This record gives sequence, structure tokens and C-alpha cells, in this order.
Amino acid sequence: MEIFADTASLDELKEFLSWGLVAGCTTNPKICADEGVDFETRMKDILKLVKGPVSIEVTTNDYELMVKEAKKYASWGKNAVIKIPMNINGLKAVKTLKEEGIKTNVTACMSTKQAILPALAGADYVSLFWARIEDMGYDAREITEQTVRVFRESGVKAKLILGSFRQISHLNRAISSGAHVLTIPPKLLKGMVDNPRTTETIQEFLDTWEDFKKKS
Ligand code: E4P
Repeated sequence: MEIFADTASLDELKEFLSWGLVAGCTTNPKICADEGVDFETRMKDILKLVKGPVSIEVTTNDYELMVKEAKKYASWGKNAVIKIPMNINGLKAVKTLKEEGIKTNVTACMSTKQAILPALAGADYVSLFWARIEDMGYDAREITEQTVRVFRESGVKAKLILGSFRQISHLNRAISSGAHVLTIPPKLLKGMVDNPRTTETIQEFLDTWEDFKKKS
């Protein structure tokens, strides 16, 4: 299992890369709009900073425009992966981009029957959206396990990315669901480190050591 950072913040990415465990980065137009910076400059900076795959999403549902945008973004860095919307034009774009040697991540999938389609079309990554699935009343863990199984049985090469996490409890259930990648927003990635019992235990050891030094 790999962890990607779901952010377009350079500061956050620098911090996470210093932890030595973040293997890639995902962005989307909403995340980029929230950053409020020049899109091209920021994406190029992220592509340089992160050695692993960086997902950059197209901003259209039109097939021709998708392919045009994808080619432009792919020229910004060898590690660029183009995020393509899950729809019929998106599937066509995956096929075209694969023929051009451009990597894709098909985004916003909400079910197994959707997710298998881009995987069969040759996408490198397929993204399932955990919280948005649960918002609709479905069990995201069950859908993930089923998708992992169908990917394996179909022999597709696509890696399954889980995104759309809003709470630590989502990660508790997602972490062992069999997905290849979890893409996690900064707040939750930091939250994964902490456990009050861990902090308390470490402090107990430090305090005991300090007492011992005073006495000896
Ligand atoms: C991941 O690739 C997506 O960009 C992201 O996780 C979407 O999260 P949201 O459902 O909170 O918008």
C-alpha cells in the first residue's frame, strides 16, 4: 500500500516529503482553486518537488479538449499523471492518451462497475471516492474490497486509489481494504501520527528517565 498527499500546497508537500513516506500527490481543480495561485507554475513546482506520480486534472468534459489539456500537462514533467473524469469521453481519452504514452488516473468513481471500465480501457490509476460513496448510503469498504477483487480477477494493471477522506475513522476502515494507494489530505495525514496513549507513554518514559538521572 502507498500513501499519496491529496494537496496542491507546496509547504504541506515539503513537510510530508521530509517524513519519507509520501510516494505521490493528487490534485483536482477544487484543491487548486483553494490554493489561489497560478495553476501552471504550481503544478510545475509540484512535479519538480515530488519524484513520484503527480495527478493533474483536466478541466473539461469535452473529449478533444481533454486530450489537448492532457498533452499540455504531460509535457510539464515525466511524473505527470492526467486525471480524467469518469464518463464516456473520459474513457475515449484514456484510450487515446495510452496510445500516446501518457499516464491517466480516472477520477470520481463511485462503484465497482464504474471503476472496472477505465481499468479495462488501460488507465494507470482509478480513483474511488470514499466519503462521497458513504454520503450516498453505500459501504465504501465493501465497494473497495469488491473492486480490488474484480481488478485482480480481470488481470488489469490499473492501481486503485482511494480518495475523498474526511475523517480519521474513514482511514481506519480504508487502510486494510486492499487498495493500492490512499491519497490523504494534510490534516488527516498529520492526524494519523497521533494517539493520546502513545504521547502519554512516551512522556512517561521521558519523565522516568529524568527522575533516574536526578537520583544518580
Ligand atoms: C482525490 O484524488 C480527490 O481529489 C479528492 O480526494 C476528492 O476529495 P473530496 O471528495 O473531499 O472532494
